[in-house]
Amino acid sequence: MKIAVIGTGYVGLVTGTCLAETGNKVICVDIDAAKVQKMQEGQVPIYEPGLDVLFHRNIAQGRLTFTTDLAHGIKDAQIIFMALPTPPGGDGAADLSYILGAAKDISKLVTEYKVIVNKSTVPVGTADKVQAVFKAHTNVEIDVVSNPEFLREGVAVEDFMKPDRVVIGTRSERAQKLMSELYGPYVRQGNPVLFMDERSSELTKYAANSFLATKITFMNEIANLCEIVGADVDAVRKGIGSDARIGKRFLFPGIGYGGSCFPKDVQALAKSADENNYDFQILKAVMEVNEKQKTVLVDKLLKYYKGDLKGKHFALWGLAFKPETDDIREAPALYIIDELVKHGATVTAFDPEGMANVKRLIGDKISYVEDQYEALHHADALLIATEWSVFRNPDFEKMEEVLSNKVIFDGRNLYDLEKMIDLGYYYNSVGRKL
Ligand code: UGA
Repeated sequence: MKIAVIGTGYVGLVTGTCLAETGNKVICVDIDAAKVQKMQEGQVPIYEPGLDVLFHRNIAQGRLTFTTDLAHGIKDAQIIFMALPTPPGGDGAADLSYILGAAKDISKLVTEYKVIVNKSTVPVGTADKVQAVFKAHTNVEIDVVSNPEFLREGVAVEDFMKPDRVVIGTRSERAQKLMSELYGPYVRQGNPVLFMDERSSELTKYAANSFLATKITFMNEIANLCEIVGADVDAVRKGIGSDARIGKRFLFPGIGYGGSCFPKDVQALAKSADENNYDFQILKAVMEVNEKQKTVLVDKLLKYYKGDLKGKHFALWGLAFKPETDDIREAPALYIIDELVKHGATVTAFDPEGMANVKRLIGDKISYVEDQYEALHHADALLIATEWSVFRNPDFEKMEEVLSNKVIFDGRNLYDLEKMIDLGYYYNSVGRKL
């Protein structure tokens, strides 16, 4: 099939590349000329495991191309994906100006039937708004479809190629047929393509992310309570996760959820409920608890150092909001850095992929090193903010040589408690005994 993807951010690029991989001819359109040129020269603009292989292969075989020219991009496309940003506006509601603007531009160019697919996370009713934009500018028949993405950064290619489910919101049979044909190769194992109306599909995306954010937040609170009552959150996690109704996944406590999706989507769903005069109380609690959770490590440090962090020096392992990404949006590490610096402490950080982005954002507020052990030099303690695999089984002897004190505050529960006791560390993790 012939496909256009408008917007080559994280979602657009993964979508375009993975759609080309099953034989479709994909043109990706972006207004950023420098970025388009780089992609034409074969440079992948984001770090996402597995994406580069597919990206290069499909460019080489002529199935994946890039342009800044919208008219050229959509001319032959049967399906046009819109993967555009929906940043939170000043009031927390998603800002639809990119999507509605692109819809208007496309509407002035179409000459034959096309399916317009909304891949971005958008409030309920957006498909109707996009359809109205088309109605206002063209007589050509168009179907607007909601098709939310459920890609996790770091495993986005796998999530796209083998989705748990594909959700498609449209009541048009013609659009349903084209979309089933397109997604057929991705659900060969029998995972469902779920057709529903546009509004249910739009809400499904917010409900999924908000539910997951709630699940994590619930576990974070259980972890905090574990510390107070002397229970072990690992045991509790396994104890409840074995119940199939709860499930083992997404129960790992930590220092709060971050990233570009959960914080924004929980806020947008709460806002949209408010606008519809519904008081979505649980979401408000989730946001409040998550804010506090981002700085639990700092609270623990303050307690340990009796309220005085002035002149202390900390090593920080992990900056990205989660492993296998260079994304630092809403990363708990940034909140930790902020608090530490405010309290007069200094920080040396290491992250396998996230350092360039942090440097760009906060400059020399902290120091950066290219080696995880180097970060430990003369540090009063090590803080762990992201569970990168390279931190999971470090050389503890080497660490001892450089750390001023054998003190670790771990926001991701990477190490075995018994082992840390044997090694003689003061090891403070989340929801576990000291
Ligand atoms: C999330 C969803 O998982 C995707 O399905 C969705 O498509 C995506 O948002 C989106 O809306 O675009 P992502 O933000 O990439 O994906 O990351 P997750 O792996 O879901 O992690 C989100 C946050 O939860 C991270 O800060 C992570 O550290 C935290 N988390 C996750 C925990 O604290 N504990 C867990 O057990 C799992």
